[in-house]
Amino acid sequence: MQFDVITLFPEMVLQAASHGVTGKALETNLASINVWNPRDYVIDKHKTVDDRPYGGGPGMVMKYQPLHDALTDAKKKHLARESSKVIYLSPQGKVITQQVLSEALNLSQIILVAGRYEGIDERFIMLDCDEEWSLGDYVISGGELAALIVIDAMLRLIPGVLGDSESALYDSHSDGLLDYPHYTRPETIAALTVPTVLTSGHHADIDRWRHKQALGRTWQKRPDLLKNKQLNAEQKNLLNEFILESNPIKV
Ligand SMILES: C[S@@+](CC[C@H](N)C(=O)[O-])C[C@H]1O[C@@H](n2cnc3c(N)ncnc32)[C@H](O)[C@@H]1O
Repeated sequence: MQFDVITLFPEMVLQAASHGVTGKALETNLASINVWNPRDYVIDKHKTVDDRPYGGGPGMVMKYQPLHDALTDAKKKHLARESSKVIYLSPQGKVITQQVLSEALNLSQIILVAGRYEGIDERFIMLDCDEEWSLGDYVISGGELAALIVIDAMLRLIPGVLGDSESALYDSHSDGLLDYPHYTRPETIAALTVPTVLTSGHHADIDRWRHKQALGRTWQKRPDLLKNKQLNAEQKNLLNEFILESNPIKV
């Protein structure tokens, strides 16, 4: 998987991506990140990447030409054009979910465009971008953090990137449920003791308990997720058990 980020702050992207899981994926060549700075493509005599908005109003707008030329070079770096997409990170885009990211895994190149200031010239979005993706209904100062989030979340899904290949399977949202609770030593903290099943050594019981917790937590914390999920008979039983255990009928 090749990521290309068009950004006015390339160091910010490379620095942040060099740590932890993303850093390891880059070191082991399971993925690569190239950065393209529109500032390197400025040709106008004032050497500016941004300009005042037509119609007036606050802030500056990133100009079309430097973005377009940076994008042209990013595309040249990858030959399999049919499996490449240009994504503008924008608060106006479709909200990024685990499903959006999983679907994009079949691409071999993702070009992420990070805006700054008031945003970018609308014609770049219309002519050069395939999709707009958003972190959610709030505004941050630049698309770099959004690009990093996309890269991190996608890399976790690539086989071989996580130390334990099964880890991502149980992450929240990977199968429409939240993750089960995790505990580590010591066994007791402030009178809260680790559930006994986890120290029993019975793997089947542990799996069953974890599955029940994942269903129960989703029911408690994000009931909206369960509306879109078809539970099988065993899952319905487990969820009913969880509900009964958390709401014991008082006699
Ligand atoms: C200050 S914002 C511009 C917001 C723009 N004026 C608007 O309201 O739609 C600057 C850049 O940050 C990025 N950005 C801001 N909020 C974002 C979000 N929720 N998701 C993804 N990118 C975002 C975009 O790349 C945007 O071009």
